[in-house]
Amino acid sequence: MQSFPPCAELHLHIEGTLEPDLVFELAARNRITLPYADAADLAARYAFTDLQSFLDLYYATMDVLRTEADFADMTRAYLRRAAAAGVRHAEIMMDPQAHLIRGIPLATCVNGVSSVLATSEAEFGVSTLLIAAFLRDRPAAEALDVLRDLLDMKAPIVGIGLDSAEVGYPPSLFAEVYDVARSAGLRCVAHAGEEGPPSYIREALDVLRAERIDHGIRCLEDEALVERLVADRVPLTVCPLSNVRLGAVDDLPAHPLPVMLARGLNVSVNSDDPAYFGGYLDDNLMAVGETFGWGAAELAIVAGNSLRSAFLDDARRSLLL
Ligand code: ADE
Ligand code: ZN
Repeated sequence: MQSFPPCAELHLHIEGTLEPDLVFELAARNRITLPYADAADLAARYAFTDLQSFLDLYYATMDVLRTEADFADMTRAYLRRAAAAGVRHAEIMMDPQAHLIRGIPLATCVNGVSSVLATSEAEFGVSTLLIAAFLRDRPAAEALDVLRDLLDMKAPIVGIGLDSAEVGYPPSLFAEVYDVARSAGLRCVAHAGEEGPPSYIREALDVLRAERIDHGIRCLEDEALVERLVADRVPLTVCPLSNVRLGAVDDLPAHPLPVMLARGLNVSVNSDDPAYFGGYLDDNLMAVGETFGWGAAELAIVAGNSLRSAFLDDARRSLLL
């Protein structure tokens, strides 16, 4: 198996690591009848046409997550696989609203995930940080309530993110949420420019003051924006296999990653929702390496970008770089 330089994974939805076998295991444990014959039948449905077609299945499938132990088992499975992929640091997003709206208490998902993250460095050699992501296709007032609850319970989060259906839900809707988070000392990231236009990337930077842009691939449509992103070294957490599976690009050879790298953008490679998109971080690196003819030099650049763009403390960062 090919080995890669030490990497940070900066764009990963923990609910997107729920593998079909684990879906069935958790369904059995929680006495839930799934509308699929078996794990292979579920996996066969992972043929998406766009972001929304994926989100519909992603939100439906996470219904098997009911208890702290369920969230913990999902998180442990990801960390074990990420360690094998060469991930040495992971900044993990979770979607609290997706659980709250189906009646799962905030403490259940936060404690379930964070209990495993707490021992991840010792157990798997993967340091971790947790990011609470808000669903942009739900009201900003709801996001604000959840943020306040997270702050009240002193949830062990390093920052906030913004995800779910992008088009029609511009970042500026969430200005107040980001202001409150920043005042509380939280770091700020946001999905932008996955399906949405370059103006959403500008809004994420100017209005939300996002420090990292998740995806950002559509920046190439706006030359002045590219120049700004290069000048400011803004990290773009690119997810190649995700973009192919969701139809954001036609196929991997057509992916803009090599152009982004050549333009001097601060790009890293990430897996997004690996259980759904055909691969973990090593699968993504292997695919782009083969498709674009990348050697050690290019892989070292994206790995270095990932570590320098992480919200890591300096001691751990210099150990990994
Ligand atoms: N939630 C999980 N994966 C996502 C993605 N790729 N884009 C937006 N929201 C998401
Ligand atoms: Zn994402």
